[in-house]
Amino acid sequence: MDRLRGHLVKEYRKKTVKSRAIFRRAEKVMIEGGSHTIRLWRPYPFFAASAEGPAVRDIDGNTYIDYWQGHYANILGHNPRLVRRKIAAWLTRGALHTGFEAGHQIELAETLVRAVGGKDAKVRFTTSGTLATMYAVMLAQGLTGRDLVLKIGGGWHGASPYLLKGVKFHAGEGFEGRESAGLLDDIVRRTLVTRFNDCDDLRRVVGEHGDRIACFIVEPFLGVGGFLPATREYLELARSLTAKHGIILVFDEIISGFRFRPTGVQTLYGVKPDLTAFGKIIGGGHAVAAVVGPRAVMEGCERARGLRARVLFEGGTFSSHSEYMRAGLIMLGHLVRGAATIYPKLARSGERLRRAIERAFAGEGVPAVCTGYGNDVVPGSSLFMVHFPRGNDTACDRPEIIHDERRVDLALREEILKLALLVHGVNVVHGGGAVSAAHRERDIDATVAAYGEAARLFKKFLY
Ligand SMILES: Cc1ncc(COP(=O)(O)O)c(C=O)c1O
Repeated sequence: MDRLRGHLVKEYRKKTVKSRAIFRRAEKVMIEGGSHTIRLWRPYPFFAASAEGPAVRDIDGNTYIDYWQGHYANILGHNPRLVRRKIAAWLTRGALHTGFEAGHQIELAETLVRAVGGKDAKVRFTTSGTLATMYAVMLAQGLTGRDLVLKIGGGWHGASPYLLKGVKFHAGEGFEGRESAGLLDDIVRRTLVTRFNDCDDLRRVVGEHGDRIACFIVEPFLGVGGFLPATREYLELARSLTAKHGIILVFDEIISGFRFRPTGVQTLYGVKPDLTAFGKIIGGGHAVAAVVGPRAVMEGCERARGLRARVLFEGGTFSSHSEYMRAGLIMLGHLVRGAATIYPKLARSGERLRRAIERAFAGEGVPAVCTGYGNDVVPGSSLFMVHFPRGNDTACDRPEIIHDERRVDLALREEILKLALLVHGVNVVHGGGAVSAAHRERDIDATVAAYGEAARLFKKFLY
């Protein structure tokens, strides 16, 4: 592995001379040279000069077909002309402002209300998925007066104190570990973790603690945890158990919202949560997130409840920012109008990539599997993640496996594959990412060829 890493670092350095120099400057003034660790891969990240559609160009003049796509926000690819043109025209009319109410937020809210199919649903906007899920938890705690939060092992909902547990798989303690220093022990203790798609474990934990649990937060299509769809049985059980025990069910649709169809993926399952958090895609490339739910739940943050009884889900200098709302509306309007062609294309591209990547590795005798496939509820998906199981019988179908160094080779996925693909003009995260509507057949072909090159290198150096 070290020889392969050395070879790849050498190749990467050759093509990214300017990025390397600029990263040295960045390190002098920013912690670790930046602000988001996923963007700070080793030995150093390339620095982007521009991005358009499927590709990003760096300051050394290299072009990469990109599947990180703005943390999976860019469903139409980078810098979509549609959003760019309309926003530019609108900005020149002097419409850029924050600090006042403006019309586009209403239309965006109406779109989200339609998305979760609730006539009496209400929306509140904020500026990040982290804040949206944090407010959802606070709403649940405020309304129920309970002090426990239940989440999934492998579920990432942003870095809010209530949810910084059970994200990474820690040797020895699995998904029971805390994710950060600086958290009060009490908060960590009060966050419970259950296994994704495991009905028995859900029954057990709700049976033991149900009357103290304020909310159960879960992604209906697990994101960072492994790009795995929930089973219908699991979400239906989650709905019935939470209803029975007075627990607020929160769906985190920050990755899945508007990705599979111009709504939440929840409508495919036919399971209605009490609260839904949206983010990423809904901002049209801008900082928009939202919490949506029935009036009876959302009014937990109304002023009329009085200072002590209400949840302080309000404020935010940039919440409902006029430009962001406008961009989100352009994006969602386009997805709604173009749904019949956009979503089948995304699913087809994702399917083609997953199958071809598996074939590329199999052809070289390198054991690799992709996740991101749909199931009997979710027909297709634009998401793909590659795993390198250590044993022939390791099924990469649970976050407990996908994140366990003993079961899969994490360094190969996270570090070596990343560099091998960068060297061949493709940018991925966690071994894959999200296809956008801007990726063409020839981009997919070039991507498959790059995975083929990576597979050959793996074979040469590792197998
Ligand atoms: C499922 C999920 N929830 C919440 C978040 C946090 O969103 P943000 O990065 O906008 O704070 C993310 C971010 O990747 C996410 O994937």
